[in-house]
Amino acid sequence: MPDTIYQSSTTAPVNIAVVKYWGKRDPKLNLPTNSSISVTLSQADLRTHTTAACSSKFTEDTLEINSKLQDVSGVRTQACFRELRSLRSALESADSSLLKLSTLPLRIVSENNFPTAAGLASSAAGFAALVRAIANLYELPASPTELSRIARQGSGSACRSLFGGYVAWQMGEKDDGSDSVAVEVAPASHWPTMRALVLVASAAQKDVSSTSGMQTTVATSGLFPHRAKVVVPAAMAKMERAILEKDFATFADVTMRESNSFHSVCSDTQPPIFYLNSTSHAAIRVVEGINKVAGKAIAAYTFDAGPNAVIYFEEENKDSVAGTVQALLGGLDGWKGKTFETQDTTKLDQKAV
Ligand code: ADP
Ligand code: DP6
Ligand code: CO
Repeated sequence: MPDTIYQSSTTAPVNIAVVKYWGKRDPKLNLPTNSSISVTLSQADLRTHTTAACSSKFTEDTLEINSKLQDVSGVRTQACFRELRSLRSALESADSSLLKLSTLPLRIVSENNFPTAAGLASSAAGFAALVRAIANLYELPASPTELSRIARQGSGSACRSLFGGYVAWQMGEKDDGSDSVAVEVAPASHWPTMRALVLVASAAQKDVSSTSGMQTTVATSGLFPHRAKVVVPAAMAKMERAILEKDFATFADVTMRESNSFHSVCSDTQPPIFYLNSTSHAAIRVVEGINKVAGKAIAAYTFDAGPNAVIYFEEENKDSVAGTVQALLGGLDGWKGKTFETQDTTKLDQKAV
């Protein structure tokens, strides 16, 4: 026992929001100003792989991302460690035969196989993987919803990466955040023809992190309260219905308006935040052109806090959408287009390796 290293590994997917989270009502607990909805992408292409280990051999808690040691003293990482340790500690108190893992230092080693901090949801996959790796190490009987409450405190969008398919993060009402959790709107199998094309315009780290960008927006944008109170609640209702009815035209309309609304409040921030660049604008024009030629919306662009585009479409329109995007933007400097299938990821969790 003294020198044993206990460890468990897992992977987590990215999710790309179609109704965007942007704004915290409680920065400490990471409680949002509005609910949001996302689609979880396949782990075959974009994923975080994380190993959590604990041992009395370790001297302190450490976190390594892509071979670089990180500062673990921040409130976000600390909150995740504290919550998971306290759940393990409760199990240990109830069953004295259990190893006292909760008192041992943790060593977390994580790797993203896609650009970190570039607007492709690395904080979502990253904190979802971190929380699940430790929960597996501690053998916690926690549901994905309970883990989502913990992952939310690491990064808001991470709560949605604990589920596959179509996922809502309900903003909740309580001050302690116990009802601010992710729930499944529909499994990926409900609408299995959904595809996402990810266009990497820049793998560079963003200048303004999501955390600081949204804080400044909440503090300075005059448009923001209208977005949080009026625009998003209407978009949530429309989007949930579009997903349940597999109504792609409405899904596309809400997705594109949401992306534009989010980037508008970024421009309305003081000083203004510009995540999109001219290459992103070219992608928007190409999607508009594709939909015009089709006579209906068959493609939907969306951008998180970065210039990289995600274009949703249905498999039957792959040639018209992915083919046209590749043909028109493929030659443009810097684009690396790739299609990723969406799939149900809840069953893909790999326990101890
Ligand atoms: P993104 O658009 O990629 O989500 P953010 O600005 O939201 O960018 O978050 C980037 C931050 O997320 C990183 O600085 C790091 O703190 C955290 N993060 C990224 N990858 C991981 C990981 N694998 N494990 C834990 N945290 C991660
Ligand atoms: C634009 O979840 O990265 O991607 O909670 O501060 O870590 P923190 O922010 P984060 O914000 C994501 C913002 C977004 C929209 C979304 O994913 O809903
Ligand atoms: Co993020």
